[in-house]
Amino acid sequence: MTKQISLTGIKPTGTPHLGNYLGMIAPALSLVKTYQPIYFIADYHALTTLHDRDLLEQYTREIAATWLALGLNLEEVIFYRQSDVPEIFELTWILSCFTAKGLLNRAHAYKSVTDTNQSLGRNLDDGVNGGLYQYPVLMASDILLFDTDVVPVGYDQKQHIEIARDIATAFNVTYGDVLTIPEALIQESVSVISGLDGRKMSKSYNNTIPLFAEPKKLRKHVMRIVTDSKRPEDPKNPDECNVFGIYKHFANADDVVAMREQYQAGGVAYGDIKQELYELLNTRFTPSRERYNELMAKPQHVEQILEGGAEKARLIAHQKLNQIRSVLGVKVR
Ligand code: TRP
Repeated sequence: MTKQISLTGIKPTGTPHLGNYLGMIAPALSLVKTYQPIYFIADYHALTTLHDRDLLEQYTREIAATWLALGLNLEEVIFYRQSDVPEIFELTWILSCFTAKGLLNRAHAYKSVTDTNQSLGRNLDDGVNGGLYQYPVLMASDILLFDTDVVPVGYDQKQHIEIARDIATAFNVTYGDVLTIPEALIQESVSVISGLDGRKMSKSYNNTIPLFAEPKKLRKHVMRIVTDSKRPEDPKNPDECNVFGIYKHFANADDVVAMREQYQAGGVAYGDIKQELYELLNTRFTPSRERYNELMAKPQHVEQILEGGAEKARLIAHQKLNQIRSVLGVKVR
């Protein structure tokens, strides 16, 4: 039996951090054997908000190097940069003609801007570009062009998958079973990790721990994790501690139990626990950091890998787009 297709996109809007790793990269890597994975860097999605040429280029390269350093196997995974696959953008236009405008009005990212504008008494569409509005259509195109069965994403992307399903259904009502209706694959076990300040780890809160920081910098970040003011001898609650909140995702089960007991018994300082967390993270990520640094030092090599991936992706995309063109009555190429 051929494997189902699992496709997901990664938006290059920041340097990859531990939250990205646990929430997205690790779960996606764990699906590689069960599905035919298609993973890509959604650089044209980033363009809705990121208008800095150097940064877009840098984040794209960092994301590529990160996935490769963490063990993405290019024999198994089709891995490319969205903007290298022009078929996606032709399909975006086609799909937009099957997208109810009202559907886009209700999309979360757009709606949150218009809601804020409304509450401030501003024009509803202040600061909204057409790209933000069309974002879900481009995402539907990413997905539908590859006959995707499942889309592994975080809960925040669920609505986007529903929109893709609606668009595909609207298309199929007219033209028959041309597009595969995708399912969101939201893994219950996916971990949300808290950041340095206890809020969800996120670039927008500036509370992240970069995945491949050099040891000194990594230690500095870990030492900055906010704790309460309990003294070393005091018993502590691990479940309310940001240090433990990160530690438990990376330590083995026995060590997690032992650490939990240390917290409850008292007698250990937060500084020492942080040191332990630092060492754990450093040991865990040093081999991939070294691979990452090698890749970052060879941009041409990464470029070649992405181009190779785009070639494979375009073989599939070209065929699918032709099937779609032919049912529409436009020229097949
Ligand atoms: N919108 C997704 C995010 O912000 C990124 C993305 C773009 C994506 N295209 C996709 C995810 C297609 C899954 C499938 O995280």
